[in-house]
Amino acid sequence: MNTNENPTHNDELLIKDCLEVMMAMPNQSIDAVITDPPYPNGQGLFTTQLIDGLIGLYLATKKAKNYVVFFWSPNNETPRPPLGWWHVATHIWHKPDAKSSTPYEHIIVWSRSYKRMQSKVWTIPILDYRTLREFGTHPTQKPVRLLRNLVELYTKEGETVLDPFGGTGTTAVACRYAKRHCIIIESNPEHAAFAQQRLEKKEQAPERIEQPTTPEAAQPPTPSDDRPKPKRR
Ligand SMILES: C[S@@+](CC[C@H](N)C(=O)[O-])C[C@H]1O[C@@H](n2cnc3c(N)ncnc32)[C@H](O)[C@@H]1O
Repeated sequence: MNTNENPTHNDELLIKDCLEVMMAMPNQSIDAVITDPPYPNGQGLFTTQLIDGLIGLYLATKKAKNYVVFFWSPNNETPRPPLGWWHVATHIWHKPDAKSSTPYEHIIVWSRSYKRMQSKVWTIPILDYRTLREFGTHPTQKPVRLLRNLVELYTKEGETVLDPFGGTGTTAVACRYAKRHCIIIESNPEHAAFAQQRLEKKEQAPERIEQPTTPEAAQPPTPSDDRPKPKRR
């Protein structure tokens, strides 16, 4: 994986501020943005970066052709999509090993199409066994299996995913398993270095990922014709 500064090449890890990089990217040059932005949480994490998270999501709608998929806290109001985009699904990541009073997170899907999709519930431990072996110092590292489910639902083989808040590179690892291209951006050099290590390791010894936890979760989304109720101003 390159670490150069050209944001239009596939399979890159950029150690930069994602807002700057995204501003320089051509519009609709990415198939889907799948990301875990800094968002309000009960742990006081990322407090100085929350605004980057929101701006990054809205910028993502200019760069993505089809979907912007992002993690968000169920305890905070979910950002609304901009005009021309629709909130089409809210998946739930249930964390059976979480100790908090809210042992789940939302995964929000914005689409350029108004067709609603089936929302799913995935039960995957925070410290999934394969994640455990790769666990770094990042406080919010996600399980690879979870990201792989999202990558496979919202892109096709050979397409390109952007993760502007890349952390330890989980989205890129999932993309590699799923044969998608991936550009990840991470501003913290320590997290980026860990992501680089993970990706280098996987290049040498790719590991098989198990199927999604439930058979139902392995199915592609089922579009329906329900037009969402207008929520706009
Ligand atoms: C919630 S974490 C992502 C964790 C990731 N899903 C994983 O599995 O490792 C959000 C990440 O966004 C990074 N970040 C925050 N603001 C940023 C910015 N403006 N540009 C790039 N990265 C940023 C933080 O350093 C943090 O690692």
